[in-house]
Amino acid sequence: MPVPVIIDCDPGHDDVFALWLAAGNPAVTLLGVTTVGGNGRLDHTTTNARIALTVAGVEGVPVAAGADEPLQRELTPATWIHGDNALGGPVLPEPTVPLDPRGAVELISDLLEASPEPVTLIPTGPLTNIATFLQRRPDLRGRIAEIIWMGGSTGRGNVGAYPEFNAWVDPEAADLVFKSGLPLTMVGLNVSHQALVTEQVIESIQRIGNETSAFGVELLRFFCGAYDVAEGMPEAPLHDPITVAIAIDRAVTTVRRCHVDIETKGEFTSGATAVDLHDMLGKEPNADVALTLDVPRFWQLVREAVATLR
Ligand code: BDR
Ligand code: CA
Repeated sequence: MPVPVIIDCDPGHDDVFALWLAAGNPAVTLLGVTTVGGNGRLDHTTTNARIALTVAGVEGVPVAAGADEPLQRELTPATWIHGDNALGGPVLPEPTVPLDPRGAVELISDLLEASPEPVTLIPTGPLTNIATFLQRRPDLRGRIAEIIWMGGSTGRGNVGAYPEFNAWVDPEAADLVFKSGLPLTMVGLNVSHQALVTEQVIESIQRIGNETSAFGVELLRFFCGAYDVAEGMPEAPLHDPITVAIAIDRAVTTVRRCHVDIETKGEFTSGATAVDLHDMLGKEPNADVALTLDVPRFWQLVREAVATLR
């Protein structure tokens, strides 16, 4: 039985690959896509999600827009990595995939209520929509199988010494989700920086030879160029699809169960994930924290999915 999933995303180059992996792998069923302000403002991330599905020829998956702003803060889009429209690089086509008139919380609620199986939520951006959903619809908690989130880090950050972007944009939302008691996997920078877009990776995706791979290569070239400038990393980390890879095949990462606190107040550390890897605090674990990635298997999953698309 395929695992039913909803992706809550802020596309974003790596979010696009998360969408394609879910759309192209038969082990998961992509029930819906919701969007959040993050890498770009909501109008961009929503259009980009629709473009990602349009390019790949994915039809019948509803796309609904959620929050433009974090719960309590102002959004700073990641233009230095993703460009002004959050999807720099290729010429973007007009999306033919429509925008669902429902909001993100409403769409998630409807999909959870309609699914015979509990649904896996896969957020690949700030957790604003997921936190809002949990606040508004506590009655539907039992319909969530688990949450697999890209965000945080067991070590250093990418928007400051400690915070990772998705956690830093909306730490109050992350705090709410980490305190929710729901089964939660954290895919942080410590593991996503193992998914490096090497020249060999780009060439192997190019060799697939379909429209999706051609568009994907343009995305990856821009993404690597931006990472080179911003972080001196010409082989950029393709963070977000690791979440979907876990839903497909848990063996793609190893995890450690531990307690994670979200720093919402720190003078130098706001948005940091304080991961108690060695159980120094003796607190109840609240997350499976991904540690290692089976890199060849991960890229194999990405390539196989892209090859099934348009
Ligand atoms: C995360 O932030 C965004 O730039 C990426 O899409 C990813 O979700 C990495 O810190
Ligand atoms: Ca993202």
